[in-house]
Amino acid sequence: MQKRVLSGVQPTGSLHIGNWLGAIKNWVELQDTHETFVCVVDLHAITVPHDPKSLAENTISTAAIYIACGMDPKKCSIFVQSQIAAHAELCWLLNCVTPLNWMERMIQFKEKSKKQGENVSVGLLNYPILMAADILLYDADLVPVGEDQKQHLELARDIAQQRINSVFSKDGSPILKVPNPLIIKEGAKVMSLVDAKNKMSKSDPIESSRINLLDSPDIITKKIKRAKTDSIVGLEFDNPNRPEANNLLTLYSILSGQEKKAVIKECSEMGWGTFKPLLAEAAVEAIKPIQQNYQELIQDRGEIFSILNDGKAKANEVAQLTLERVYSELGFLRKSTH
Ligand code: TYM
Repeated sequence: MQKRVLSGVQPTGSLHIGNWLGAIKNWVELQDTHETFVCVVDLHAITVPHDPKSLAENTISTAAIYIACGMDPKKCSIFVQSQIAAHAELCWLLNCVTPLNWMERMIQFKEKSKKQGENVSVGLLNYPILMAADILLYDADLVPVGEDQKQHLELARDIAQQRINSVFSKDGSPILKVPNPLIIKEGAKVMSLVDAKNKMSKSDPIESSRINLLDSPDIITKKIKRAKTDSIVGLEFDNPNRPEANNLLTLYSILSGQEKKAVIKECSEMGWGTFKPLLAEAAVEAIKPIQQNYQELIQDRGEIFSILNDGKAKANEVAQLTLERVYSELGFLRKSTH
């Protein structure tokens, strides 16, 4: 039997190259060897204030980007999280067994809640439990994500193992599969173009901090031209005092498909003025096929809806089985019990 993969991206604003390199690009490889489920996590998108006018459109666009990046509906299931009620249901069950202090420790909650002040929602605190439900419903073996999701993955493992399996299993056999994160080495943490100490993020108010997958070649070139650099001569990887150099060179290495060694050979003597156009060209070329696929696909709503409907049917089948198993192990009265 093939191992199973589950992952997702929030439909909040434009997806950027961090989302692609840290997550989606790896899904594309995994779908050949794994049973792969990828969802657009729209329920997560409302954990911070959202605009109802753009949620559905962003959901469609995010699904289209998955496909444009190479997710093949013949090889994987692509679906919308909110269309499978089991996600919200399992989330509730897990809410009730997860200690509050585990949630208060979550780094992303602490960071994001600071920005929300008094208005921070309970949903933002529960965000990682909903994410655990997403993963655990599919008995996922592997969860390909960027570095920033590591703590959430650990939480999903702890909930499955310590709060469900060890407490409720009657015969010692696991009720929920304990998933493993898959965080690739290069690209797992793409940093902001304006401050390489922070990760590139959809919610950064500074637009020029990120390269969006749908930015025009002109915009990409301008953003890279304006990216923060330093005044040290020569370019290098892995110098802790030069986070910008490491970020931009790493991006160049991944986007141009060259090993770090080759990049150093090519670029170590360069100044920023020579390097930046090179990086811009590599970025534009790497993103071009995604944009072409996207432009074609987004014209054909019917096709996208049909892919999402197929994905929904396949996801629902798996999710319902797990949900029933958990309800029954937790002692609920289910139709099947009489
Ligand atoms: P989101 O939408 O914030 O991010 C989606 C994916 O992109 C990765 N990512 C990055 N990778 C490298 N560099 C960056 N600068 C960067 N920014 C984001 C994230 O690590 C993530 O893999 N909570 C998840 C969404 C989610 C999910 C799930 C993921 C909900 N349920 C179940 C996996 C399994 C998130 O971070 O979304």
